[in-house]
Amino acid sequence: MIRIAFFDTKPYDRASFERCCGGRDMRFRFLETKLNEDTAELAKGCDAVCVFVNDTVNAAVIGRLYEMGVRLIALRSAGYNNVDVKAAYGKIHVVHVPAYSPYAVAEHAAALLLASVRRIHKAYNRTRDFNFSLTGLTGFDLHGKTAGVIGTGKIGRIFIDICRGFGMKVIAYDRFPAPDSGIEYIEPDELFARSDVISLHCPLNDETRHMIDASAIGKMKKGVIIVNTSRGGLIDAEALLDGIKSGKIGAACLDVYEEEADIFFEDHSGHIMNDDLLARLISMPNVIVTSHQAFLTEEALNNIAETTAGNIRSFFEDGRCVNELCYRCGNIERCRNDRKDKCF
Ligand code: NAI
Repeated sequence: MIRIAFFDTKPYDRASFERCCGGRDMRFRFLETKLNEDTAELAKGCDAVCVFVNDTVNAAVIGRLYEMGVRLIALRSAGYNNVDVKAAYGKIHVVHVPAYSPYAVAEHAAALLLASVRRIHKAYNRTRDFNFSLTGLTGFDLHGKTAGVIGTGKIGRIFIDICRGFGMKVIAYDRFPAPDSGIEYIEPDELFARSDVISLHCPLNDETRHMIDASAIGKMKKGVIIVNTSRGGLIDAEALLDGIKSGKIGAACLDVYEEEADIFFEDHSGHIMNDDLLARLISMPNVIVTSHQAFLTEEALNNIAETTAGNIRSFFEDGRCVNELCYRCGNIERCRNDRKDKCF
């Protein structure tokens, strides 16, 4: 029996994991708390931990888990910026779910964009109040506009297809452009200057942190719409707020926020919001915030549970490490362990 400490459990996680892999060969210890230095102890007696995007998996946590005999960190997400993969190397193997439904995330980005451009969030509130006035709801056609996509991996490519379906022109920047993809790649500065809509689909790392800062915003078109369904840290939120206040940024659609860890996924409606920056952003009529929900579809939840269970089984039962994130390869982004053997 493989024992797994499942941190930051939400009701929908539990339902999909119990449906997919309850009972037989795995026993989950479902914990509501997030993993961090104070809670690592709760994994005592477990062979693996299963973590999500706002669990803290730094060197200290990894060291403690290793001492307790944990041998696998199974991320139930694609992004892994919260895991110190370098510190884990040689101690604990790290696996993730590289793709569970890129459609879920790309479609959510498109939903936010459409809601923002056509002021659906405002119209919804008005008609619930029997206010049928159209004043202030004027949008614009996406057809003929230019979408600048940063990161043309699985999600970025689907978002590109959606934009093309609307008749938009698409330009893109990727650190590793895909050859023969038919995508027009340009450098970031040119993308900032030419785009009416900028959508972020690259990972968060040292190179991409705050790639949208005051300097980048300064190069953008007046009225640009920024969509971020990737990671909050890609945007300097103070600079974003300044851009919105000055009128340079036409709208922002945010599914992620740099300081989301202690806020998103929870109900804070009965409390005072002590993140002034987030409160100010949410108060803006042209900002839409969702709480890291882009992944949240039935299809994605089922795929996450099945792939995570497959990763865990293959590690403990077959001695293989499918979907491993390995520091040995130097470039985690480009690591292609086709043999699926363990990297150490
Ligand atoms: P992917 O790995 O298929 O694509 C990422 C792309 O970014 C690759 O083409 C890569 O070459 C490119 N890239 C890497 N470094 C870059 C850099 N410095 N500058 C520009 N491009 C760079 O990943 P996928 O599945 O498309 O996911 C993208 C991101 O979406 C993830 O990193 C994750 O942070 C986020 N995500 C958000 C979810 C949500 O619920 N909001 C759910 C799933 C993923």
